[in-house]
Amino acid sequence: MERTLVIIKPDAVRRKLIGKIIERIENKNLDIVKMKMVKLTKEEAEEFYKEHKGKEFYNSLVEFMTSERIVVMVIEGENCINIIRKLIGKTDPAEAEPGTIRGDFALKLPENVVHASDSKESAEREIKFFFGEE
Ligand code: TYD
Ligand code: MG
Repeated sequence: MERTLVIIKPDAVRRKLIGKIIERIENKNLDIVKMKMVKLTKEEAEEFYKEHKGKEFYNSLVEFMTSERIVVMVIEGENCINIIRKLIGKTDPAEAEPGTIRGDFALKLPENVVHASDSKESAEREIKFFFGEE
């Protein structure tokens, strides 16, 4: 069964959107199989987003991701990587379609309320990053 990692980001935690975002995932009948709340250190956020190191938005992204607690969860279900990416919408909230989580709850980058793994490889790496080998 496929697994993916979803993060409810600092802006969503501050805005008390945790319940609404979880509801979207559960409405889709996907299974949340692991979940925890953590606050990332600068080093952890840099490592998590290392593919973006050197890009103009990298430092503000790291600052944003360490600004508040986050909720991290593992979702399980057939084809859930693609399904969740569709559910959250495009990266830039200004481009994300209404009906998607980012389209409905976010206004501008980098505050786009959620993260979801974008491939099997990144899902595996990201789940290991937060939950270790199991
Ligand atoms: P990226 O991996 O491209 O998007 P996604 O989260 O959809 O996989 O980028 C990671 C995060 O970096 C993104 O969620 C928000 C932030 N970001 C910016 O702040 N500005 C940008 O121009 C981009 C592309 C991303
Ligand atoms: Mg990405």
